[in-house]
This record gives sequence, structure tokens and C-alpha cells, in this order.
Amino acid sequence: MPRNHLKRFADLKNLPNVFQGLEGARSFNAFEYFGNSNPITLELACGKGEYAVELAKKYPQKNFIGIDRKGNRIWKGARIAVDEGLKNAVFFRLDIELIGDVFDENSISEIWIAFPDPYPKTKQAKKRLTSPQYLQIYKRILTNGGLIHLKTDSEILLESTLKSLEREDMWLVKRYDDIHLEPPDDNALAIKTRYEEGFLESGRKIKYLCISKS
Ligand SMILES: C[S@@+](CC[C@H](N)C(=O)[O-])C[C@H]1O[C@@H](n2cnc3c(N)ncnc32)[C@H](O)[C@@H]1O
Repeated sequence: MPRNHLKRFADLKNLPNVFQGLEGARSFNAFEYFGNSNPITLELACGKGEYAVELAKKYPQKNFIGIDRKGNRIWKGARIAVDEGLKNAVFFRLDIELIGDVFDENSISEIWIAFPDPYPKTKQAKKRLTSPQYLQIYKRILTNGGLIHLKTDSEILLESTLKSLEREDMWLVKRYDDIHLEPPDDNALAIKTRYEEGFLESGRKIKYLCISKS
């Protein structure tokens, strides 16, 4: 394992805004930690947590939880949040399939998923974070009218997400096939993750779907 990963794993244990594993995530009490009952947004597959951190800065009246299974990646976002004194952003090192065991029904107001692995092969379709199995979990924890925001460069993921929505009876609120060609008036979409930067450099189009639970 690279040396900087070892250092990050050690630091992760000391960061007050990181909760590890199912036990750690379940011990987290949003009201106690944040000191308020402001709406909660999740960033799933958050990697280095660019969305959780940048949204936390833009929207101090909301709370943000970045979730990823890779500790060395969430370390980055968690460290920035601590160093910049952001009190409304925390990180869970957790498998996303477990979030239904962590969050109550109707407790999450929005979910961002930026550049999840597309799993282009049909036999891997169930692993896509917008497959029906995952949408069922999101539907349960989202509040009525709660939103899912998906950014991707993958046609395959986009098309399979649209099919999953139909199957789960969820609504497509907005769709952009190239957010940088027709920049939407939503400044949250201007946030660029590490993967987005890479895809833009290689000329990929960035697509966006906004999905409503009901
Ligand atoms: C392609 S990266 C995108 C990272 C970040 N959103 C970005 O745009 O830079 C996908 C991330 O999803 C995480 N991931 C994939 N499947 C996951 C799962 N089932 N549970 C938790 N994390 C997962 C990986 O660890 C990885 O950090």
C-alpha cells in the first residue's frame, strides 16, 4: 500500500467528521452532531468529496454526508472540511448498499451521485448505483419530493438509469445531455469533481439527470 495511503488511514481515525463502517455510521446522530435538524443531502460514491465540501460551503443551512468505501479518498474531503471549519459536512466510509440500514425512511432530502462507475457490461448492470435495487433504497430514505442528481459521461449508465426510473415509477425532472454546452442556471452543477475534470480533458460530454421520488 502506498505510504501516503497509510498516513491517510491513520489520520482518518482521528478526524472528528469521519464515521467508519456500519457501526460507525449507525452511531452517527445527525441532530447531535450538526446541532440542528436542517435537511440532509448525501453524496454517494463521493470519492474525494468535492460535492459534499463545495455544497456545504454554498449552503450552510443544509447538512451534507459524503459516502464512499475508499478511506484514502474520503480522507481528502474530510480533511478539507476540518481545515476549513465546515461544520455541516461529514463523511462515512461505508458500502452504499448499506445506507438503507443507516438512514430512516423519509430522512434525506437530496442525493448527489457524480460519475459512479458505469459498469458497461450487461452482466454487471445490478452494480450500477442507479439500478432498480439501489433506487428502491433511495426511494425509501428520501423525503416526499426528494431529489436525486446524477452526473455521468456514460451513455450506457444514462440509458439504464432512465429504464430503472420507469420501472420504479420515479419521475425525470430535468435532463441535460451536455451540461457544458447548455450551462443550466443551477450553480451546483458547476462543481467539478476529479473525474469530471478528467472526462472534460478527454472531450467527453457530461450528462445530468434530476430525478424525483414522487
Ligand atoms: C469513478 S469514482 C467517482 C468519484 C467521485 N464521485 C468523482 O466524481 O470524482 C467512483 C467511486 O465510487 C466508489 N464506490 C463504487 N461503488 C461503491 C459502493 N458500492 N459503495 C461505496 N462506494 C462505492 C468508489 O470507491 C469510487 O470512489
